[in-house]
Amino acid sequence: MEELLSNGVSHETLPESYILPLDKRPGLIINKTIPVIDLADHNHANTSIQILQAGKEFGFFQVVNHGIKEEVIREMKNIAKEFFQLPIEDKIVYCSEDLYKFPRLHTSTTRENKLEKKVWRDCLKFVCHPVDLQSNDQFPQKPSGFREIGPIYAKVTRELALKILKLISEGLKLDENFFNGELSDGTSITNINFYPPCPDPSLALGLVSHCDPNLITILLQDDHVSGLQVLHNGDWIAVDPIPNAFVVNVGHILEFVTNGILKSVEHRAVTSSTLSRISLATFINPVSDCVIAPAQQLIDENNAQNFKAFKLKEFLSTYFGQLGDTASTVNAFKI
Ligand code: OGA
Ligand code: NI
Repeated sequence: MEELLSNGVSHETLPESYILPLDKRPGLIINKTIPVIDLADHNHANTSIQILQAGKEFGFFQVVNHGIKEEVIREMKNIAKEFFQLPIEDKIVYCSEDLYKFPRLHTSTTRENKLEKKVWRDCLKFVCHPVDLQSNDQFPQKPSGFREIGPIYAKVTRELALKILKLISEGLKLDENFFNGELSDGTSITNINFYPPCPDPSLALGLVSHCDPNLITILLQDDHVSGLQVLHNGDWIAVDPIPNAFVVNVGHILEFVTNGILKSVEHRAVTSSTLSRISLATFINPVSDCVIAPAQQLIDENNAQNFKAFKLKEFLSTYFGQLGDTASTVNAFKI
């Protein structure tokens, strides 16, 4: 098994297995920002329009005044940080080669991307939906407090995702419950991404460029350390953290069901030489036997159907078979 980066030892040099080819290394970013949307705006229709515009143009936006209490955010971030500070013997029990065992802690391998390079990240994955309140082994036992805040964080981020999906369905004039049920009710996972200080951030990445394969992603960034970058018209833009805001992005499935109106956009994470960074990504998923197809209400004589209907499983095997290569994944389902 690959050794964790968060093994308590600081890293002096960047091993060769992390050094990316020249054209994949982090480079210039342009001075642009993704839209910031105020969810407390009482003009519902206006909020829907802003979300749709952001989803069309950037595939990404940040939300503020979302109603999630600051204490919940603070507590979850603290627990996430404390988890990666635990002594190695407390963390190793969660390490597994089994991709379907949760909670699961792992570091990067050269098998994850087509470049056959590692990325500068450790990751703890846990199931955040459904939450089983009877059994307490869905969340790690340590640090203490994880099993208290975990279910709360899982609940509030899911509610936020469903609220945003409802605004999207309103904006697209779909049934307001369009995304409820099988499109969003599958097993959902939260990734706690930990990017330790990197000996040479110019040569490596924390996550290589990818699109998320799920419906929608709710991401909580570190308060102070920036790292997320989004591709926009061929340029990279940095998503600077806004304390207590969530970053929301369109996953491949949302692109398919909206017939391509909303875009799933490539993004990556860069590292810092001096600071570690934490992010929490919650991925909302359809149920496993779901058939994915563009909403029929969005198709008429002027709007041709752009994607085929397919089984979720078929899509996921293409996505993971292509190792996240977006163009070939999406092309396989285009009409
Ligand atoms: C992800 C992701 C970005 C980040 O986990 O899929 O894109 O900022 N994370 O960590
Ligand atoms: Ni992502």
